[in-house]
Amino acid sequence: MFRYNYSEDVKSITSKPYKGSISITLIGTGELDHWKNKLGRKQQSWVKVNTFKGNVGEVLIFSTIEGGIDHIVAGKGAGDYSPWLFSRIAETLPEGSYHLKENLSEHDANFAAFGWAMADYKYDHYLKDKDTKSVILTVGDNCNLTRVKSWIRGTILARDLVNTPTCDMGPDDLALVAERLAKQFKAKIEITRGEELLIKGYNTIHTVGRAAEKEPCLIDIKWGNEKAPKITLVGKGVCFDTGGLDIKPSGAMVTMKKDMGGAAHVLGLGQMIMESGLDIRLRILIPAVENNIAGNAFRPGDIIKSYKGTTIEVGNTDAEGRLVLCDALALASEEIPELIIDFATLTGAARVALGTEVSPYFTNDSKLSAELLKLSENEYDPLWPLPLYLPYEKLLNSTLADINNIGSTGFGGAITAALFLKSFVTNDIPWVHLDVYAWNASAAAGKPKGGEAMGIRTVFEYLVKKYSK
Ligand code: BES
Ligand code: MN
Ligand code: ZN
Repeated sequence: MFRYNYSEDVKSITSKPYKGSISITLIGTGELDHWKNKLGRKQQSWVKVNTFKGNVGEVLIFSTIEGGIDHIVAGKGAGDYSPWLFSRIAETLPEGSYHLKENLSEHDANFAAFGWAMADYKYDHYLKDKDTKSVILTVGDNCNLTRVKSWIRGTILARDLVNTPTCDMGPDDLALVAERLAKQFKAKIEITRGEELLIKGYNTIHTVGRAAEKEPCLIDIKWGNEKAPKITLVGKGVCFDTGGLDIKPSGAMVTMKKDMGGAAHVLGLGQMIMESGLDIRLRILIPAVENNIAGNAFRPGDIIKSYKGTTIEVGNTDAEGRLVLCDALALASEEIPELIIDFATLTGAARVALGTEVSPYFTNDSKLSAELLKLSENEYDPLWPLPLYLPYEKLLNSTLADINNIGSTGFGGAITAALFLKSFVTNDIPWVHLDVYAWNASAAAGKPKGGEAMGIRTVFEYLVKKYSK
């Protein structure tokens, strides 16, 4: 089973001063000569024999006469700070307690601490030998440790959920995680399971999930003051995507445990929002299913009556994400919240458009779009807008039902998927859809290969700015 202690403290960063803490001086390639010239002869020669140039990833240890570490000089390269610079430094350093000599701005100090702590992230749940190196950073008053720890807890919760293999992260496990989160923050939770989905009219969720051994469910969390502005998060919770009868080739299926990435994102974001006590009435909706194959699997050509009442022709059983999301979005729209945000590992086309690291977002609110773009850069959380280009709606036309779940051409696949979702968001509610990869394709400092949270820091900071108490 999945094990994760949500309230666990982040141990690699602290505000407690520690007497023996080792100082780190950051030197960029541009300031190398100036800095070197001020050193004594012995130290200059130490820099030289170590061929220290100030590049990112270089760490130079200056020892005491007794053989201990006196202080550290770390390269900062030619560019600006980024959290991943500090991940790199933390990964390279030997076990110990450190502090930064530099007086950083609050923004830089926060991201230095964030990057530092992310170097400590490992998904080692199934490993016998765990890496236990402890590299601790003592931060100064300029760092908002509460905020940073919130980013970290949200991020590692999302990563852990994505990384957990489907055998231990089915719809029922996802529901269990949601229940624990709700309990921790005294939120209300309602879970509609199996046949009950049909009784309540969530037919698309049941249809996609009915062939799996573990029954589908709809998770509905409500938290906060009922009178506060209502914000609703919706996350795609496809615990495994075989493609259904339109089965995926093995190369495309091998990472599909991550197809509940949207659910992992909204739970991680929910953790951040609830532990920060934002002044909103938060709702989290997760349709949790496995898109699997059995005799009772849904088929290409089937027509499903959605919760909204519109009928959907199944052009392809592998376009299941938009199917499970559409009933959740229609339900979300009923109470007319101030904003709906959905996260989903929805299309391969989004990856073709922007690659694996930049997540496209779609929104019907142009002011919000501009704000998200600006924030995302500030948060080192790359997002980019794509258009809800209405003329492409015709690509979703069906002659047998009100809409088809796939576009009639493969072109603009991320846009047609977003337009499909859009038709289930009613009442002109401001809405953002993020088509995330939820995965690091290769390892980098602070970002090991595997599950990744994308866009949740940006959305969180947007909400903090607008709804802090
Ligand atoms: N979960 C996939 C999308 C996906 C694939 C995200 C790979 C990230 C990486 C989704 O359910 C899917 O299969 N989409 C199809 C849609 C198509 C059948 C219209 C796709 O993108 O190929
Ligand atoms: Mn699919
Ligand atoms: Zn999918």
